Amino acid sequence: MSHPPMPDADELACLDELIADLPPQADQLLPFLHRVQERLGHVSPAAMRFAAHAFNLSRADVYGVVTFYGDFREAPVGDTVVQLCMAEACQAVGARALAAHAEQRLGVPLGSSTADGTHHLEAVYCLGNCALGPSIRVKDAVHGRVSPSRFDTLLELRAIDRSRS
Ligand code: FES
Repeated sequence: MSHPPMPDADELACLDELIADLPPQADQLLPFLHRVQERLGHVSPAAMRFAAHAFNLSRADVYGVVTFYGDFREAPVGDTVVQLCMAEACQAVGARALAAHAEQRLGVPLGSSTADGTHHLEAVYCLGNCALGPSIRVKDAVHGRVSPSRFDTLLELRAIDRSRS
C-alpha cells in the first residue's frame, strides 16, 4: 500500500492552524475534518494522513470516516456546490425536470464540475425541506419551490455575490 503524500507547506500551515485548539483525541476527528472541508473545500489524502497522525488513528480509520459522510470530499470540486434533492417528495413535484434543466444550464451531468471550475452539480437525497420541493442547496443556503427560472435566478445571484467577494 503506497503512502499518501505529506501536506505541502501551505496546507501544513493551514492544518496546524485548524487543529491548534483541539485536544489530540479520536473524538476530535470529525470536528477537525469539518474545519478542513470548510476551509479547503475538500479533505485531501495528505490531510487524512495528517489527521491520522494527530489523533493517533490508522489511515484506514480516517479514510473510513471521510468516505462514510457525504459532506466530505476527497478532491476539489467547482467553487459553488449546487445540490439538487432527488428524494421521493421532491421527485413528486418536479425534481427530475429541474435536474434536467440544471444539467443543461451548467452543461455538465449531475456529479460533475463545470470546466471553468465555477460550479459543481450533484444529487442529494433530502435536504430536510420536503414540504417545499423541489429543493436545492446553493453553497450553504437551502431553497424551496425551485422552478427552472428560479434556478437560473439563484445562480445569477450567486454569481453577483462571487464577483463582490
Ligand atoms: S425530499 Fe427533497 S428535501 Fe426532503
